Amino acid sequence: PQRLSVTLTVNGEDHALALDSRTTLLDALRDHLHLTGAKKGCDHGQCGACTVLVEGRRINSCLALAAMHEGDAITTIEGVGTPQALHPLQAGFVRHDGYQCGYCTPGQIMSALGMVEEHRQGWPSHATGSVADRPALTREEIAERMSGNICRCAAYPNIVDAISEFAG
Ligand code: FES
Repeated sequence: PQRLSVTLTVNGEDHALALDSRTTLLDALRDHLHLTGAKKGCDHGQCGACTVLVEGRRINSCLALAAMHEGDAITTIEGVGTPQALHPLQAGFVRHDGYQCGYCTPGQIMSALGMVEEHRQGWPSHATGSVADRPALTREEIAERMSGNICRCAAYPNIVDAISEFAG
């Protein structure tokens, strides 16, 4: 297999890595950088547990090759809040009991952060005007836009509560 020198920028820090060209972004994060917040649920793009932000956009890191993201700003759950100072969305998940086993939670939170930013920026493209002019996301819209993130414990109502509160 071909080895590549790849520098990944994760949570604001550059990391020089020597990777097999086929290494996924998820495996680079977990196995090479020991950032194990992003989870490997399915490794097939079906569960969302591996969600991270790349340039602010949410992606399934199990479907991305690490080498494709050299130079991109990658954000993982380790870059969101701290145990002493939770991000407001993390605090919302605690307040609303938005998890049971917690395995999907990092992916849920990264996906929700990306989703709220998509809304702020006017996605989908037929949205017009500033976010202040647009109605808040409904519970149904949040559930649909979060449908790529599976919770095997089915804590969905509480997850939507937490995201709804955060999204305003
Ligand atoms: Fe990537 Fe399931 S581990 S979508």
